[in-house]
Amino acid sequence: MDPVNVREFEALARERLDPVHYDYFAGAAQDEITVRANESAFVRLALVPRVLRGAAAPALDVTLLGADASMPIVLSPTAFHRLAHPDAERATARAAAAAGTIMIAAMLSTVAIEDIAAEAGKVAADPTLWFQLYVQPDLGFTEAIVRRAEAAGCRALVVTVDSPALGRHERNDRNAFHDLPAGMRCENLRELRGGEPGSVRQVVLSPEISWRHLDRLREITPLPIVLKGALHPLDARLAVERGIDALLVSNHGGRQLDTMPATIDQLPFVAEAVEGRVPLLLDGGVRRGTDVVKALALGARAVAVGRPVLWGLAADGEAGVTRVLEMLRAETAHTLTLCGCDGPSAVTRDLVREVRCCH
Ligand code: FNR
Repeated sequence: MDPVNVREFEALARERLDPVHYDYFAGAAQDEITVRANESAFVRLALVPRVLRGAAAPALDVTLLGADASMPIVLSPTAFHRLAHPDAERATARAAAAAGTIMIAAMLSTVAIEDIAAEAGKVAADPTLWFQLYVQPDLGFTEAIVRRAEAAGCRALVVTVDSPALGRHERNDRNAFHDLPAGMRCENLRELRGGEPGSVRQVVLSPEISWRHLDRLREITPLPIVLKGALHPLDARLAVERGIDALLVSNHGGRQLDTMPATIDQLPFVAEAVEGRVPLLLDGGVRRGTDVVKALALGARAVAVGRPVLWGLAADGEAGVTRVLEMLRAETAHTLTLCGCDGPSAVTRDLVREVRCCH
């Protein structure tokens, strides 16, 4: 079967993946309520298009923290791409760079950030990479990894703050999947700390992490900082007050605290708190161009996609990621046209209305 949409890529990926690894990618915390909500919340939002506007064919490009992206769709950070395909993050980096969009490279990648950057540089003159960081209580470790990301040319740090502890994934418990198989490792962690080199167990997810650590990060790097996973409006406001440069509205794809709200439902509350002072991105459940336009209408400058990239990668390596990204691009352009918009900035809040029933 040749996939005609992003959801069909999941079915293809599932056929190709080891079932344990499929469960790792698809799974989420506890009852998996939030991961389902992320997708179903988009169904409860209807698009109400404008007509007869004589709009030009849409241009999709956006600027995010000074970087140009060819569309308002970037790649969320996801760990362990080698489980999906032997070309791993190298393939993802090439596909993102060729698409002219931003890859947020995960700290827990199975290819080192320097090699990810080199790969992106092979297909685009000026690719944009951002680096996702789990701040470590050991600030020396944090600083060392930030220096590597800077040296590799990353243009922003995406600091994930929704993980004071690891989410409980019952699928992983059932499958006894708790670390990378032999022969694979987290290449960014090598030589950074004692113990098993490159093991995910070297990373500490700690409730000790606080604004103090973010302030320290600000002091050690000139890179813009994007906060990923602050959903409470009070935290969004604190982030702006503390000089955070952008927010990625995310519930970690439902993988951390189960029963968090769907990100698209929470976005208006964050947007209201932030009052346009910093750009917002959103991830979680984006599978269609219509989802992208709904997120733009509710206040996002761009969206990010996690699992869709993994499904493309597992299905067909670099070509699969490219197809997933191009499907989302084409659907977004088509949706904008049907809504009477000539680009992301023409999308306004009134284009979206909540409806009672699910279709
Ligand atoms: C993730 N996500 C994630 N986030 C992060 O900040 N660091 C990480 O290492 C990972 N790893 C990871 C692995 C896998 C397999 C998944 C599915 C997700 C969360 C990710 O960045 C993003 O928030 C969600 O994936 C977005 O939801 P969708 O697009 O998958 O629905």
